[in-house]
Amino acid sequence: MDILTKNWDKIDPLRIDSYTRTGGYGALRKAIREMDPEKVVAEIKMSGLRGRGGAGFPTGEKWGMAAKTPAKEKYFICNLDESEPGVHKDRAIAEKNPHQIIEGILIGAAAVGAKKAFIYINGNYQKQKEILEIALEQAREKELVGKSVMGSAFKVEIVIFEGAGAYICGEETALLSSIEGKRGEPRLKPPYPPVAGLFGKPTIVNNAETLANIPFIIKQGAKTFSQIGSSASPGTKLFVLEGAVRNRGIHEAPLGITAQELIYNSLYGGGMASGKEFWFAQIGGASGRLAPAGKLDQSLSYGPGEFPLGCGSILVVDKSADIKDLLFSWADFFHRESCGKCLPCREGTYRLWEIAKRIKNNDVSKRDKENIEEILWTLSNTTFCPLGNFAAVAWKDAMRMFSDKIFN
Ligand SMILES: Cc1cc2nc3c(=O)[nH]c(=O)nc-3n(C[C@H](O)[C@H](O)[C@H](O)COP(=O)(O)O)c2cc1C
Ligand code: SF4
Repeated sequence: MDILTKNWDKIDPLRIDSYTRTGGYGALRKAIREMDPEKVVAEIKMSGLRGRGGAGFPTGEKWGMAAKTPAKEKYFICNLDESEPGVHKDRAIAEKNPHQIIEGILIGAAAVGAKKAFIYINGNYQKQKEILEIALEQAREKELVGKSVMGSAFKVEIVIFEGAGAYICGEETALLSSIEGKRGEPRLKPPYPPVAGLFGKPTIVNNAETLANIPFIIKQGAKTFSQIGSSASPGTKLFVLEGAVRNRGIHEAPLGITAQELIYNSLYGGGMASGKEFWFAQIGGASGRLAPAGKLDQSLSYGPGEFPLGCGSILVVDKSADIKDLLFSWADFFHRESCGKCLPCREGTYRLWEIAKRIKNNDVSKRDKENIEEILWTLSNTTFCPLGNFAAVAWKDAMRMFSDKIFN
């Protein structure tokens, strides 16, 4: 069953009537007129929805924390930073069905008691930003956003905030600093944003895909949602298939599906592209682990597992690829995106990038080989935020699986 992509290419994203005709904003009406905020939070908890931004934190629990923290001001933020290479599912929702995200924000803001909401969008996504602006303007005209939402006592303003495109600004606390006008650097946690977030006030930061699920859950009920996908990780997921697969792009599939099915089933990836032979898949984006053919039967969901799902991107690598090029591209990305706040990541990602260049040029030294292990350990165990660890994940697997090809 499709939840997120159901109306893609059927509705006109530039016309709000096109969304309301398919039942759009019916969930908001239900949340405001028939449910109280506690009931909305309880419904989201019951659905089992877990955040689609990477960490898979239970959304209802997060909302519950902000809802019960007393404060005059609370904020609700939609995370549409999406700066990881090869990931484009959040901006696709914004482009194809912007009101689905806006409706999710409105229901969330009402549930936690936030009067101000933000859509934090990567500044490179101008097309999607303009679509969201038009959608917001139309929602304001219809009194779905503003001083009295649907004639109720609930008031909320939604503002689009443009980030400068830094990967670290997708991390929720760096995102908060960025909106506050500070350098986009992560903050120490706890306190967590639902307790003390933007300007020190209770703040929800949710991924855009997470929020796009909310209207369905409120309308169809938590029970219906929880029966889709796996019991630990209900619902569907937007998987982004990239690389040597026949049908590249976004595929909506139930959580719990195996990588094997996603890559080979004709409903999704449709198998390897013509003339390509499978080598391995990187599951979970640039920070994802490498799965050889024998491990593709692992189920993809949030929670404990050998291959964390992350944002749901899967890169299929075929046997003609050069692992040295891949090592370089991972190191190049993370050394550019390290925010520089902590030394192990600032230096570690830089040193790894230097070694990656030497590996690529076939002039790697014995010293480099010894240093790689130490740098990867340091990145995995001593950095301030998860980005340092992310930078080491694929490298560690590659060193274990392909050292003969890397140092030949
Ligand atoms: C380096 C880094 C980059 C991140 N980038 C994003 C991002 O682009 N979009 C996103 O939604 N979450 C991103 N996250 C996760 C957020 O910190 C946060 O967990 C998420 O927005 C919460 O939303 P969710 O509970 O709906 O998943 C990133 C985390 C880290 C450590
Ligand atoms: S781990 Fe990297 S990105 Fe995170 S705080 Fe340290 S330098 Fe910044």
